[in-house]
Amino acid sequence: MSALKQHYDVLIIGTGVAGLNTANHLDDDLDVLVISKDYAWECNTFYAQGGVAVAVDEDDIPSHIEDTLNAGAGLCDKEAVEILCHEGRDAIADFMRSGFEFDRDASGNLLYTKEAAHSRNRILHAGGDATGRYIHLHLMNQLKFPILYNTQVSDLLIEDGVCYGVRVFHHNEIFNIYAKHVVIASGGVGSLYEYHTNARTISADMQGICLSHGIALRDMEMMQFHPTVFVQSNAVRKQLLSESLRGEGAKVVDSKGKRFLFDYDARGELSPRNIVSQAIFDYQKRVDKKIFLDVSHFEDEFFMKRFPSIYFNMKGMGYNLPKDLIPISPAFHYAMGGIKCDLMGRVDGMACLYVVGESANTRVHGANRLASNSLLEGFVFSRRVAHDICEKRDDDKPAVLFDECEPSLIKRGDKELKNRLRNLMWDNVGIIREKENLEKARQSVEDMLELPTGKLLRLRLLSSREIIKSALKREKSLGAHYLIRRD
Ligand code: SIN
Repeated sequence: MSALKQHYDVLIIGTGVAGLNTANHLDDDLDVLVISKDYAWECNTFYAQGGVAVAVDEDDIPSHIEDTLNAGAGLCDKEAVEILCHEGRDAIADFMRSGFEFDRDASGNLLYTKEAAHSRNRILHAGGDATGRYIHLHLMNQLKFPILYNTQVSDLLIEDGVCYGVRVFHHNEIFNIYAKHVVIASGGVGSLYEYHTNARTISADMQGICLSHGIALRDMEMMQFHPTVFVQSNAVRKQLLSESLRGEGAKVVDSKGKRFLFDYDARGELSPRNIVSQAIFDYQKRVDKKIFLDVSHFEDEFFMKRFPSIYFNMKGMGYNLPKDLIPISPAFHYAMGGIKCDLMGRVDGMACLYVVGESANTRVHGANRLASNSLLEGFVFSRRVAHDICEKRDDDKPAVLFDECEPSLIKRGDKELKNRLRNLMWDNVGIIREKENLEKARQSVEDMLELPTGKLLRLRLLSSREIIKSALKREKSLGAHYLIRRD
């Protein structure tokens, strides 16, 4: 990249759809730097399989809105959902005009698949189940601004309710980068949980930094667990088995072949994600530990073409699909909760700071995100953030300089504590929660916060504490927050 400057117009933290699409909608003559913690593709967008949910035509918009609100279990902001579904069509048309190709049938018609809790087929996909990878590559090819790779953001530069930039760790140095506007697009909290489907870079750092500055997070108890994940591997990111498999007929069965999901909800495999995850988790505890995804109704050739990533990844782990049954378990997948912002992505109570994508909380997903609405959220709200920044591009901002000191980011012993935290969160703050376990987890996190840990672990602990506190505050089950009492 060109020489690093000390001041930019815009800094964007994150290289998923939310960050890259923000960059791609900013005026060309702005000075913009995109910050990537690792390789640019180490983000959740890259690993997205199922697709992008979008209303098929104008007439489908009301029903996309209704499905999103229903899945969200009463916690959605209706205006946010209306924006998502109305502007979604234009955002996707815009992306396709830039040359992106979604999968089509032999006659050239767009192929729409179905996923759980959608009342009709409205999920676009690309490269079969490689939707995220294709989208990411296209966004990267369009990018007109430089990326600073291998860069850990360690703090936001904040004074009197204004954000002036970020402090970073890059090539063994700590230094500040200043900007008129900072956009957080760094994703959710996957690494807080033992089993998850997220990129390894997704570790709740920015959420923790916001908490350390008193910036509000909202709905942090709302953590989504994907029902069908192959977790029996040593990989940090577990293999997702896309919901579109169920949308196209895959069945969830126990070791005797029973389709037990109908005992929980009449919609069976196509019930909303929270219901399927909770049902599998409960059944595994009470009835049968061994649960499988049965994809054997697919023809061999069709399966390889429609789900090539799943086919090859599972082949590498010794499974011959579509014949073999795949052992599954739910795993952490997506944070509905996040940094509180308005519908232009402006962070609550903080000037010059934006948030977009999974790290944001506009309440567009409420208590449970409808399948494949997250890529759409990234496309839609990134355009709003870019628009707002361009409107304010000539606003004056005083120059304020900050020191460049930072406590140790990592200390000896952090790794063990990180693993302990992951177990703690999985066991006590997971799919099914109990008040006593949440209290126990809160105490353990408080104890860890007393230890002389590195700053990055501290940020994870702050985010975890916030999730637990929010879970304790919500005393009744709602959406992804499922609380049981043992009376
Ligand atoms: C999937 O392919 O099942 C994931 C889609 C999503 O997370 O919305």
